[in-house]
Amino acid sequence: MCGIVGYVGGRPCLDLLVAGLEKLEYRGYDSAGISVIDNGQIENVRAVGNLENLRAAVAEQADEGGGVAVAAPAATTGVAHTRWATHGRVTEENAHPHGDCTDRIHIVLNGIVENHAELRRELAEQGHHFSSETDAEIVSHLIERNYDGDLTDAVRRSFGELRGHYAFVAMHADEPGRLVGARKECPLVAGVGEGETFLASAIPAFLAETREAVAIENDEIVTIGAGGISITDSKGNPVERAAEEISWDEAAAEKGGYETFMLKEIHEQADAVAETIADRLPSDDGVDLSEVELDDDYLRGIQRIVIVACGTSYHAGLVGRYAIEEWARVPIEMDIASEYRYRNPVISEHDLVIGITQSGETADTLAAMRLARENGAKVLAITNVMGSQATRDSDAVLYTRAGPEVSVAATKTFVAQVASMYLLGLRLAELRGTLPPERIAALVAELKSIPSKIETTLAVSEAPAREIAAAQAEHDFFLYLGRHIGLPVCLEGALKLKEISYIPTDAYAAGEMKHGPIALLDESTPVICIATDSPVLEKVLSNVEEVRARGAETIAIVTEGEEKAAQVADATIEVARTDWILQPIVAILPLQLLAYEIARARDLNVDQPRNLAKTVTVE
Ligand code: F6R
Repeated sequence: MCGIVGYVGGRPCLDLLVAGLEKLEYRGYDSAGISVIDNGQIENVRAVGNLENLRAAVAEQADEGGGVAVAAPAATTGVAHTRWATHGRVTEENAHPHGDCTDRIHIVLNGIVENHAELRRELAEQGHHFSSETDAEIVSHLIERNYDGDLTDAVRRSFGELRGHYAFVAMHADEPGRLVGARKECPLVAGVGEGETFLASAIPAFLAETREAVAIENDEIVTIGAGGISITDSKGNPVERAAEEISWDEAAAEKGGYETFMLKEIHEQADAVAETIADRLPSDDGVDLSEVELDDDYLRGIQRIVIVACGTSYHAGLVGRYAIEEWARVPIEMDIASEYRYRNPVISEHDLVIGITQSGETADTLAAMRLARENGAKVLAITNVMGSQATRDSDAVLYTRAGPEVSVAATKTFVAQVASMYLLGLRLAELRGTLPPERIAALVAELKSIPSKIETTLAVSEAPAREIAAAQAEHDFFLYLGRHIGLPVCLEGALKLKEISYIPTDAYAAGEMKHGPIALLDESTPVICIATDSPVLEKVLSNVEEVRARGAETIAIVTEGEEKAAQVADATIEVARTDWILQPIVAILPLQLLAYEIARARDLNVDQPRNLAKTVTVE
């Protein structure tokens, strides 16, 4: 989830590019860079850290009499980038833009190139030299290989060789006054001004300069110049699309037109999962976690896994426990990190301890991980932030690739963590031979379909969530019930409602109802039940009946097409059907929306709930 800005026109581009990057700052980033075309060659500057560091690097180059700032006349074509590291550490070499071997082609990219490893091998054999560890650098070398005097053609040919989930913008020193972009699932939008054109990953990057925007669609190639834009499909057929006038103010634009960051991030969940699974499922029948530095023999021999985490990350771990135990038959112990660290736990060198933390900086999780290591266990960190403390306090890291999360209430990092647990569970099952290959292949196919199921589930659940919220928002207590894989979904749904709406909630294993909580029920208690497809669905449905018999209003989250489940509750929200054990990754979506709509109905600031702050790790 990096930020991209490109400019071609009549004005000096350096300040416009920096201003564009500033507007993308809300996305969070760990390094930034700019390349401009200066008298037939490319000047480039990159820096780790915030934009102040980039400005200092520009000034330093200028003091030395060169660089992006000293072109005469000033450069009017350039690209800029803020990076959120996914492949390769946070270093200046890994910051974008990336050049080819001749340094005449530079690119900036947002997203993941899935087949980067095979392309890198192939290009290296043909004599290409790489200067970074990134998947993105492959693209500049691919364009170099395909370049025959026309950048648009070279980009189109290169696009055809790439697999993944990305958008990029390229420039060539021989073609000043032109930028070429391509899009596969990650956003790319052109801004058309008077005698100038922008190409960016988000509208705020150019909104101060022009309100005329043209969205680039999937599998399209766009060429921009001072005089406007031309779009083709990936085969070169022209595409006509008129510019739209953007009416958002700047604050709305930062949120991509959504009313809050939380809603924007809810809608980024398909991307977050797609990026997290991308190149880790390179074939139809297996998982590639070779980036995780735990060797296969070690993974085969693990006797126990202990998962430590806090809050939402803990709930993702709970989902993982069901999947890993089911698929890989490894016993799992779960603990809240703040409990684990103080209870003198039994740890041995045969344990793998997994610390799940989106920020990589949560003190209790870090302390639990350290304790485990001191006692001889190996520690795997699952985190969203490259270079965070968790990555230094562990033996191996599995990155979620959700992009920076601005909203305090975690949403997209949760689904990315759950997806990571599924990847790990499948890999362990493969290594330990606990699932037949056909079952692994079926689960791989299902996992690959999750991003589109997230999209359809969000689309169908928005309206019912709003309706239910309007009817229920004034209640002062909500109970959540679920069994088995539905239980962590309840816990997470209840936490979301609690933290952003300040309504007391409880989440219970439905089988425990009769042991006490049933006393809470009367007509004034909405009860949210996770009744998605699973081997315990019948049991959940009988719990729903029990609840209704007490006069409580039941709202059930059900799998599409499950008639029986839909009939027993007072209101239902349907989620897409997937393998039952993957169901939590879609079942959580209506609960996020419901919490969101209830908080909005109460007119609360969902992005900044009271008494809470996001652990911030990037400037
Ligand atoms: C809830 C939420 C928190 C975090 C928890 C752990 O929406 O965001 O419960 O999940 O504070 O944070 P990380 O994952 O950064 O360790």
